[in-house]
Amino acid sequence: MPESAPWWRQGAVYQIYPRSFADANGDGLGDIAGITSRVDYLETLGIDAVWLSPFYPSALADGGYDVADYRDVDPRLGTLADFDELVAVLHGRGIRVVVDIVPNHTSDRHEWFQRALAAGRGSPERERYIFREGPDDTTPPTDWVSMFGGPAWQRVHDGQWYLHNFAVEQPDLDWSHPEVRADFVTTLRFWSDRGVDGFRIDVAHMLTKDMSEPLLSRSELDALPVDGLHPMVDRDDVHEVYAEWRRVFESYDPPRTAVAEAWVHKSRVPLYASRESLGQAFNFDLLQADFDAGQFRRVVQENLELAHASGSSSTWVLSNHDVVRHATRYGLPHPARAANGDPVRKQGTDWVVSGGVAPDLDRAAGERRARAATLFMLALPGASYLYQGEELGLHEVAEIPASSRQDPTFFRSGGADFGRDGCRVPLPWRPDGTSYGFGTDGAHLPQPQWFADYAVSLEEGDPRSTLSLYRHALALRRSLQTVEQLEWVPTARDDVLHFRRPNGWEVVTAFGETPYALDLGDVLVSSSPLHGDELPGATTVWFRG
Ligand code: NOJ
Repeated sequence: MPESAPWWRQGAVYQIYPRSFADANGDGLGDIAGITSRVDYLETLGIDAVWLSPFYPSALADGGYDVADYRDVDPRLGTLADFDELVAVLHGRGIRVVVDIVPNHTSDRHEWFQRALAAGRGSPERERYIFREGPDDTTPPTDWVSMFGGPAWQRVHDGQWYLHNFAVEQPDLDWSHPEVRADFVTTLRFWSDRGVDGFRIDVAHMLTKDMSEPLLSRSELDALPVDGLHPMVDRDDVHEVYAEWRRVFESYDPPRTAVAEAWVHKSRVPLYASRESLGQAFNFDLLQADFDAGQFRRVVQENLELAHASGSSSTWVLSNHDVVRHATRYGLPHPARAANGDPVRKQGTDWVVSGGVAPDLDRAAGERRARAATLFMLALPGASYLYQGEELGLHEVAEIPASSRQDPTFFRSGGADFGRDGCRVPLPWRPDGTSYGFGTDGAHLPQPQWFADYAVSLEEGDPRSTLSLYRHALALRRSLQTVEQLEWVPTARDDVLHFRRPNGWEVVTAFGETPYALDLGDVLVSSSPLHGDELPGATTVWFRG
């Protein structure tokens, strides 16, 4: 990597979902001390940073994305002193720390919301949230629907309604309120002062809203263009918030970084990724693509162009805490797609809802393709975001009984959608024990027996394991990562992609099942064993030509 480039441009960032990573105190819930106890693992993996999903006090109505106090640690996960120790230990190993900021909504347990409930209608306390009157006692102010299903309004004891775009327990904040704005600046400084290097901004495209009366209906909202003036999403004025945050980031040395989780049209991503705003934005296109050469190439090309337009680097993601793991997605038949190319349902959703029975999952093919896709991704210019467990080749867990499910999507959809619990099952560290080495007791989400086969301790000793592949590839990537450019090399077949980085690093992926022969020169790593100069199907190889 060019010496002068800041780390985040092409970093390998490993997402930790703290409640499911490692449990040091044996209560079945992962914790901060558990992460600290696994720092050798993180160092050996070869990542540049960890991103910690929320570890703040929370009633866990939405896996911690319902934050009751933005400037503390959930007592079940530890203390601020534990957090400080984790940061010090990670920094000591050269690993940066990114934390999650959830600004669109608080938890209903947040002190502000509790005060708003107590203070009643018309009070200044209610102005930090979005309270409105309904036409009558049983009808909400509008017919808007929450992202987790069901109405987006909840009635409170005195008859007013509050807006929650996500779970009922996640009331939306009113970002026109100066105290809301000031408080998040305080939060950003609080964690920056504790040594945090960067922030992942949850639902970055929804903070500001135009709630002027009369409120539009759902179909009227849907009919409006999302052009920066839409009342609910991706409004231009959200960047006033981020301009203020930018001043905070730049007041530190080195400047703090941020990455936006913004589900917006491609043409608007550069606004979030620009240096005046958050500086980087997630690109979820690979995560939504099939394992298909044409789709991968288009996604890479488009996103490198967008990154260029914003002055930022591109980001790449194959798995995270919100989607079916990519080993599983790639082991299922390609999903149906809408006219614009988007999957009709989130990929793998139907398989999860079937309890893992239909359609047939080809586990081995899924893992093989996942390894090939990861090796392809890690060679791209830009930052790669990895999700805990993918380095083990873990599959999604479908066999979670209804009584153990936690995701609000499951409850609010009346069981039609099983939600995201299956990618949040605690990691297997050993092939035995009550929770496969996750802790000394059970695990808050049930682990299936087949988790034993993916245990860290087994994979560590196996040079052909997915974990060994990740370690090898991440170490190589450190020495190979170069200026953010890529040149496509023509291939003899449509199901094969070949690109070259400026320093002679070459990458070929055969997406189909048919082997592909070419002169491989000096092979650096491959996602499955090569047969001489021939790539077997569903394989990526890195080499020097
Ligand atoms: C996006 C997060 O990634 C997801 O897990 C969460 O449910 C929603 N934001 C609401 O905070």
